[in-house]
Amino acid sequence: MNVLILHFGMGRSGSRILEYVRQRHERDGVKVVKLEPVQEHGFYGWLARSFVPGLKVSVKPVDLAGYGLVYLLAPKWSYNCPPINGFIEGHELRGVNLALIVTYTKGSVSGYMARMVQKVKGKGANVLGMLSIKKEEILSERFGEKVQRFCTSVASHRLAE
Ligand SMILES: Cc1cc2nc3c(=O)[nH]c(=O)nc-3n(C[C@H](O)[C@H](O)[C@H](O)COP(=O)(O)O)c2cc1C
Repeated sequence: MNVLILHFGMGRSGSRILEYVRQRHERDGVKVVKLEPVQEHGFYGWLARSFVPGLKVSVKPVDLAGYGLVYLLAPKWSYNCPPINGFIEGHELRGVNLALIVTYTKGSVSGYMARMVQKVKGKGANVLGMLSIKKEEILSERFGEKVQRFCTSVASHRLAE
C-alpha cells in the first residue's frame, strides 16, 4: 500500500511524530510532503489569521492519486490553521483514506478536531482515524509506541475494507 504523509507547521516535536509514522510504514511505499503555503506570512501574520474562522490560504498543489492511506499531520492554531483549510478546500478528497494527527500545546483539542473532521468529510474523505498529541507527551517513553499503534490501527482499517 502506498502511503503519503502530509505535514505542516511541524517544529521539532512534529518532526518526531513524522519519523515514527514514517518508520511504521517503512515497508510500504512512503512519500513525505510538506504542505507549503503559496505566500508566507511570518509568525504574527499567521497568528492573526489563525483566529479568523474558516480562513483559508492556498498551498502548493499535492497529487493525492494512487495512495491507499494519507496522513495529515497538522498543528492546532488558535481557532483554525488557514493553510490546512486551504489544503482541504483546494484538493479533491473524494475517496481519499485520511488519518488525522493534530499536535497542540495546551487546553483541549476535541472541538478543533471535530471541525477538521467535519471539513474533510464534507469534501468526501474517509476518515480512518484521528489522534491528538499534546506536545509534552512527545518526551514520554511510550510515545513512539502510541503513534505506531495508531498507524497500525488506521492501516488495518484500510486493509480490512
Ligand atoms: C500561529 C500559531 C497559533 C497557535 N495556537 C495554538 C493554540 O491555540 N493552542 C495550542 O495548544 N497550541 C497552539 N500553537 C502551538 C502549536 O500547536 C504547536 O506549534 C504545534 O503543536 C507543533 O509543535 P512543534 O512546533 O513543536 O512541532 C500555535 C502555534 C502557532 C504558530
